[in-house]
Amino acid sequence: MRSSVMPTSRRGDGHSSPAALSAVGLRKSYGDRTVLDGIDLRIPAGAVFALLGPNGAGKTTAVKILSTLITADGGHAQVAGHDVATAPDGVRAAIGVTGQFSAVDGLITGEENMLLMADLNHLSKREGRRVTAELLERFDLVDAARKPAQSYSGGMKRRLDIAMTLVGKPRIIFLDEPTTGLDPRSRHNMWQIIRELVSDGVTVFLTTQYLDEADELADRIAVLNDGRIVAEGSADELKRLIPGGHVRLRFSDPAAYRSAASALAEAGRDDEALSLQILSDGSPRELRSVLDRLDSAGIDADELTVHTPDLDDVFFALTGAGVSGRTGGTDQTGRPKEAVR
Ligand SMILES: Nc1ncnc2c1ncn2[C@@H]1O[C@H](COP(=O)(O)OP(=O)(O)O)[C@@H](O)[C@H]1O
Ligand SMILES: [Mg+2]
Repeated sequence: MRSSVMPTSRRGDGHSSPAALSAVGLRKSYGDRTVLDGIDLRIPAGAVFALLGPNGAGKTTAVKILSTLITADGGHAQVAGHDVATAPDGVRAAIGVTGQFSAVDGLITGEENMLLMADLNHLSKREGRRVTAELLERFDLVDAARKPAQSYSGGMKRRLDIAMTLVGKPRIIFLDEPTTGLDPRSRHNMWQIIRELVSDGVTVFLTTQYLDEADELADRIAVLNDGRIVAEGSADELKRLIPGGHVRLRFSDPAAYRSAASALAEAGRDDEALSLQILSDGSPRELRSVLDRLDSAGIDADELTVHTPDLDDVFFALTGAGVSGRTGGTDQTGRPKEAVR
C-alpha cells in the first residue's frame, strides 16, 4: 500500500517549478522476477531526491532506466525534458551518473582519468586541462593527481568519480549509493560535496540504504520496497505517517509495576518486561506530569526512556520486518543500535 503525503506547501515542489525528472508506472522484470512494479516519481529542478530502500529493492535498476543504461518494460520517464525511451541522447547530454561501482580506471592516474573524461566530453585540450585542474583542487585530489587511481582510498575514488562526472557539467546527477562502504569521515565529506552540488543548482537523484543520509540530504524521500514506492514526502512528512513518540517506564519490582499500571491507566502494558508505554511528545512538561503522577502514588520507576519517532520508525512501519538492525535492540534514545544495511 502506498502512503501518499501531498501537502500544498512542499518546499520547491510547486507545480510551477519544472520537473527535472518524472516517471509514471515504470516497470522492469528479469525473467519472472518483478524488480520494479510500477513506480511514479517527480523531482523538481534543483532538488535533492533520495530513493531509499534496502539491498535488492530495485534502486540501481531505477537509476539504470532513468539514465538510459537499460530500458523499462513499461511506463514512461522524462529526464531534463527528454523521454528516456525515445530521446536517450538528450537525456545523456544532461545527466551525470556515478554508479555504485566506480567508473574510475585504476591503472591510470586521477588526472588522466579526468582528462579522458574531458576528451569524451569534446572539450578542447586547453579547456580539458583547466576543468581538470579546477575539479582536482575542489575535490582535494591535487596531491594524488599523478598517482594511479588504484592506490586511492575508497573515499578518494568516490571523489574522483564525482569529479569525472562533473566534467560534462550535468544538470542532473545520479549518485547510486554514494557513501556505501565509506568510513564515517569520508561519508560526511561526501555529504558536504553533495550539498555543494545542490548549491550550484544541480538536481541530485541519490539512492541510499541509510535513513540518516536521506534525512540529512534530501528534500524529498521515496521509500522503495520490493519494487514499489511505499511512501513519499519530506523527512518530516514521512515521520508524521507514524504514531508519535512515547515514554517508556521500566520497573524491576512487579508490585511497583502493577501500582504504576493502575496509576497510569492509559499506558500500554508489557507485563513480561514490566514496562509501560505512554504516548508523549517527550517535552519536559509531559515528562514532569508523568513523573508527578507516579510520585503521588509513591512509585519509583527504575528506568525512563524517551522515544522520539525517526525515519527508522517510518521504515519499520512501512516495510514491517524489512529492516535488519531493528532486531539489534535500541539504545537510550530508542534509535536502533546499528544503521540499516
Ligand atoms: N541484470 C539482472 N538480471 C537479473 N536480476 C537482476 C539484474 N539486475 C538486478 N537484478 C535483481 O533485481 C533486484 C533489484 O536489484 P537492484 O536494482 O540492483 O537493487 P538495489 O540497487 O536496490 O540493491 C535484485 O533482486 C537483483 O538480483
Ligand atoms: Mg544498488
